[in-house]
Amino acid sequence: MKSEFKKYTEANRDAWNEVTPKHQSAAKEKWDRAFMQPSFVYMGAEEVDLLNQMGIKGKYVAHLCCNNGIELLSLKNLGADECIGFDITDTVIQEAQERADLCKIDCQFVRSDVYDIGPEYENRFDIVYISSGGMGWLPDLKLFFAKAVSLLKEDGLIFIHEIHPFSEMLSFDDAKVDDVLRIVEPYFKTEPYIEFGGLDYVGGEQYDSTKPQYWFVHKLSDILMGLIENQISIEHFSESETDISAGHQRIEQAQAGVPLSYILIGRKQKKTRD
Ligand SMILES: C[S@@+](CC[C@H](N)C(=O)[O-])C[C@H]1O[C@@H](n2cnc3c(N)ncnc32)[C@H](O)[C@@H]1O
Repeated sequence: MKSEFKKYTEANRDAWNEVTPKHQSAAKEKWDRAFMQPSFVYMGAEEVDLLNQMGIKGKYVAHLCCNNGIELLSLKNLGADECIGFDITDTVIQEAQERADLCKIDCQFVRSDVYDIGPEYENRFDIVYISSGGMGWLPDLKLFFAKAVSLLKEDGLIFIHEIHPFSEMLSFDDAKVDDVLRIVEPYFKTEPYIEFGGLDYVGGEQYDSTKPQYWFVHKLSDILMGLIENQISIEHFSESETDISAGHQRIEQAQAGVPLSYILIGRKQKKTRD
């Protein structure tokens, strides 16, 4: 990986290691209990329908930026075969693996920067899965998609359920602003946001950190061109007013017609043979 990116991804690792105990105090036991129930699935109905339609059963799945594993454990409970989650943060990988072992759900969790995932994982997966708030931590989307595609078998699928880029223009702390629909940030933004603290969207604890975190806004054109340039053909794209960021709940409640999330499914094209 380019060394200039390490500055960002390692700082984000520190910030996530710092906040994870706060997330765990608020929700670890809840998720342990939930996954003790057979076949528990965390995702909502629209996503589960799409996962079933794309044939999740029996598939080899990689989840990139998997955090505490609740989505990957759910994919396993939906019938996926081999399930491997990758995340840069030490504490979340430990929590995810402990939960999988406790609940006897056969998933493996690997601590790695996504840009550094090793060659032993290449051409291995039928599905690469990415979900809410994963891509914003990544300084280079084209390189990320190149990595994701390298993990896929030929004809494999990439499934993205993410925060809508449009909603990045609105305040992510919408409980604190009067007009939740006021545009407060530009859509076209090349420099990352540098923030300190504020990552406890689970327990809601306010804290000031000494550790900077870097958040990158990826426009819709960055996402689409990043996929197209990595030989992905898009087979599904839907937008929704559902908030998956935990920061736009008042906008969701207002039903103001704002796109807050999207699901995209793309397929790795077969190599053309001469
Ligand atoms: C908001 S979580 C997304 C996962 C899940 N959808 C969730 O809501 O919990 C973001 C995750 O991305 C991980 N992450 C950030 N940068 C990464 C990188 N360069 N490589 C791997 N994981 C990374 C963080 O450690 C964190 O666990």
